[in-house]
Amino acid sequence: MELTLRVWRQAGPYAAGGFETYQATGVSPEASFLEMLDQVNEELNRRGEEPIAFDHDCREGICGSCGVMINGMPHGPQRGTATCQLHMRKFRDGDLITIEPWRAKAFPVIRDLVVDRSAFDRIVEAGGYITAPTGSAPDANLIPVPKSAVDTAMDAAACIGCGACVAACPNSAANLFAAAKLGHLNLLPQGQAERWTRTVAMVETMEQWFGSCTNHGECATAGPKEISIDFIAWMNADYVRAQFKNLAKQGTDNL
Ligand code: SF4
Ligand code: FES
Repeated sequence: MELTLRVWRQAGPYAAGGFETYQATGVSPEASFLEMLDQVNEELNRRGEEPIAFDHDCREGICGSCGVMINGMPHGPQRGTATCQLHMRKFRDGDLITIEPWRAKAFPVIRDLVVDRSAFDRIVEAGGYITAPTGSAPDANLIPVPKSAVDTAMDAAACIGCGACVAACPNSAANLFAAAKLGHLNLLPQGQAERWTRTVAMVETMEQWFGSCTNHGECATAGPKEISIDFIAWMNADYVRAQFKNLAKQGTDNL
């Protein structure tokens, strides 16, 4: 395949950025999108030019680091697929492909296609964990968990923290990410002790860094793990309930 790439190049967080055009030649339709970028970078290296910086780690849809905007779509045209698992056969010979970093104030560009997603870490630090030491793995079924809760918690836990939901949202809201992180803990018995304090802490931290959700729904279609937008409704319901639960707890604390 012969492709023309328009790639966002930016030397650093405070440098002016702009699009550069490159030719990608002899690309195999079986190559992944990142392998195609590797091939372009090899050619840039050979010519003594600065290679295109992009983030990646697992290259198998697990780590969440590889996301870029491809023709205006987070992770490109194939639904439920991370950039590293997108194959060039999804494009046509001769295509023009525009590649940009995530566009969101909370994800500033570090270099070229690499953004700083540590604002997600602030949300998780606020309560996305269970504080009790959990020890070694317990015997199976020692704590009975309803099948529906297990399945739904696993669906939420599929979130890889890639940031596509934020990049797709016109408000740069992180509600789907926060809802997924809350959902997988708040649905399980082990997550109940800190459910209400966790919910308030994570939602309010999210609001410090990201825009507000206005139910566009772009997030749910953009993400590689197809996290359901229902988790946002559950997070909102838990947030309202948490206000009363935490107020009641404060009353008890003051006795
Ligand atoms: S909710 Fe989906 S799009 Fe958002 S960070 Fe998680 S996996 Fe990525
Ligand atoms: S490189 Fe890990 S999800 Fe793509």
